[in-house]
Amino acid sequence: MATFEEVRQSLDLPLICAPMTGVSGPELVTAACLAGIAGSFPTRNCETPEQLEDWLTRIQAARAKARDAGAHVGPLAANIIIRGNRRIAEDIATVISHGVDFVITSVGSPKDVCGPLNDAGICVLADVASMRHAELALEAGASGLVLLSAGAGGHTGWANGFAFARAVRRTFDGPLVLAGGVSDGVALWAAEVLGYDLAYMGTRFIATNESVASPEWKQTLVDVEFDEIEVAMAPNGVAASMIKGGRGSAGHSVSGVRRVASVADVVAETASEYAAARNATRVRLG
Ligand SMILES: Cc1cc2nc3c(=O)[nH]c(=O)nc-3n(C[C@H](O)[C@H](O)[C@H](O)COP(=O)(O)O)c2cc1C
Repeated sequence: MATFEEVRQSLDLPLICAPMTGVSGPELVTAACLAGIAGSFPTRNCETPEQLEDWLTRIQAARAKARDAGAHVGPLAANIIIRGNRRIAEDIATVISHGVDFVITSVGSPKDVCGPLNDAGICVLADVASMRHAELALEAGASGLVLLSAGAGGHTGWANGFAFARAVRRTFDGPLVLAGGVSDGVALWAAEVLGYDLAYMGTRFIATNESVASPEWKQTLVDVEFDEIEVAMAPNGVAASMIKGGRGSAGHSVSGVRRVASVADVVAETASEYAAARNATRVRLG
């Protein structure tokens, strides 16, 4: 557990490997942390409370081992999906006992989870898609916001990620994370310039060796182009970014997927693009 500032300081790159249903397993999360970015997963990816215990034990053991060997290790986040979740109280107790660094809530108000998590010293970031939801999440006790913007993989937002950040920054100077549209390190640097502290990459990490996505889905992400992403209604009635023809979910950031690679390679490539973009901005500004 950590304050958001401690989380941010512990990152090699201002990046979160986004929580994804059917994609994020212990290998992906651990690889993200070992690559120096934040690893995260939806607790509902675990079918039972016992499986959640098992995943967290394995992830934390791998992180501790790497740390003991002198490696720098990124923070760990659990994603608690609110709507329709009958295991919220149990999952909260488990993530607290395993010392996750922060929690991200999605699909619903964080009002019932902020109290116990904040009491345990764990900061809560709430995923929101409108200004109204941003205000409600902050009133409910969230420390920060994940701004779900247009073109995000999975449940997508509608808002433009540029305008959304600037609108929120008029009244809120706390932790802000961009979800959607981050296809490479250039976009990651642009997100920081806009006022985001961190950004998600989801789609890019589906096509990694460590994700539990099927080999066919990974290859589809390599093959499809930006124009093949459409907004469709998910079975739960929430708008989602999908590949045309029902070939799975992906965001506009699919344009950044050129091959199936290891998490370490994706992070290294993103880090080098990020550094180049940052330097280019400095050169341009003189
Ligand atoms: C297949 C898939 C499953 C997802 N599942 C979840 C989830 O369980 N919880 C959540 O908060 N977000 C989920 N998301 C959204 C991501 O956390 C993130 O907002 C999104 O991937 C960012 O856009 P990008 O894919 O363009 O990087 C999912 C996204 C995808 C592509």
